Amino acid sequence: MTAENSAKTITTCVFDAYGTLFDVTAAAREAAESPAFPALAETWQALAANWRDKQVGYSWLRAVTGDHCDFWQLTQDALDYALEANGLEGDAALRERLLQLYWELSAYPEVPAVLSALKDAGMTTAILSNGSPDMLNGAVSSAGLNALLDATLSVESVGVFKPSAKVYNLVETELNVAKSEVLFVSSNGWDAGCAAAYGFETAWINRLGLPQDRLHGTPQHTLPDLTTLPSLIKR
Ligand code: LAC
Repeated sequence: MTAENSAKTITTCVFDAYGTLFDVTAAAREAAESPAFPALAETWQALAANWRDKQVGYSWLRAVTGDHCDFWQLTQDALDYALEANGLEGDAALRERLLQLYWELSAYPEVPAVLSALKDAGMTTAILSNGSPDMLNGAVSSAGLNALLDATLSVESVGVFKPSAKVYNLVETELNVAKSEVLFVSSNGWDAGCAAAYGFETAWINRLGLPQDRLHGTPQHTLPDLTTLPSLIKR
């Protein structure tokens, strides 16, 4: 099947949540803007990076070992590591504020218009995320995206994190679509690569200008942000 033919079959756009729709650095950045946490002024970027790196790393380890916990627990574990790595452990108010901000992360600015354009084009839109259902509902609601998403799928229904095939398979079973109808969208190179290997047409949103991950699958599309995503959908 040619790329052009496969693009014509796309009916469903499925998005990773954290880093793709929601800005995972926003919690540390917004806390750093508060006079209550002056220590964050110089460390928020390192804190945000450590937090995210550990969160993703712990998710892989838990998937490989079979010791699943939900993503909210894992997010707190990763934050505790990151706080200590940056000399910020023991600041209970900061920890509480960062977790509160994570619950209501900002969406990237282009997200509402892109989802609207996809809906106008007749697409089914959904999230497929490691996030727990409560976390995802909190983020979707606070970003005002409820009306623009048809479904929010959490790994909690299969009890294992990405990139397990059980997670990608949720799209077919929960949305009743074939793999070939799906455009999967993720800013995480590893998620995009593994979703491509699974069999989805995949767009990697390379917001940070990173090298492409060398994996067993390769995304068909690479975009700097979501803005031009609707142009990939040719019907
Ligand atoms: C997610 C993480 C991987 O939302 O960003 O699933």
